[in-house]
Amino acid sequence: MKIAPSVLTADFSQLEAELKSIDNADLLHLDIMDGHFVPNISFGPAITKSIQDQTHLPLDIHLMVTDPLQWIPKFALEQTKYITIHVESNHVSETIQAIQKEHIGVGISLKPKTPVRAIIPYLNEVSLILVMTVEPGFGGQSFMEEMMEKVKELVEIRKREGLHFLIEIDGGVNEETIQIAKASGVDISVVGSYLFNQEDRHQLIEVLKCV
Ligand code: DX5
Ligand code: ZN
Repeated sequence: MKIAPSVLTADFSQLEAELKSIDNADLLHLDIMDGHFVPNISFGPAITKSIQDQTHLPLDIHLMVTDPLQWIPKFALEQTKYITIHVESNHVSETIQAIQKEHIGVGISLKPKTPVRAIIPYLNEVSLILVMTVEPGFGGQSFMEEMMEKVKELVEIRKREGLHFLIEIDGGVNEETIQIAKASGVDISVVGSYLFNQEDRHQLIEVLKCV
């Protein structure tokens, strides 16, 4: 299992130490929230840039933003591996093209209430599908196991259509729920509060990687 710590729950007053404490992860998941698409505001391009300058990890940027199109150039940094937008946000096709133009992996995410059929038109254009396993906006919520039906459906479609997108889940992942995710076919797990609430994060990441 690839592990992508979400820094949303990190202590931003100790950012350098927090980033060091998880530097054996595969990706760094950055939750960008606009206070409109979700009822919370997190951080923007300036903090994203300073995070990039303090980590070697590829960035997995999750835009929980109503109008992501205008922000793509600001998050298209040297270490940005994926920029994920929500299928529920505005101008999805144009935004996918804008991310492709930056030669960055396109991710598309769906909220818990959004069915898989909503992203079918985009499957050929994306490298990553982010299945939300909590209602987006906050860390520390409980894992919604019923979302594994979407994961299984996506695994089926990927095989049938000969596609190559990776499947990532986001929200409520811990040592138990990651087992359920693995069994369902998840490739990458975002881990936020479960990881940042632990002392020995390097050790926990190694354990989660072996799932
Ligand atoms: C929620 C974010 C998630 C969240 C994960 O809107 O997209 O990445 O930070 O945090 P945990 O692992 O605490 O649910
Ligand atoms: Zn996220």
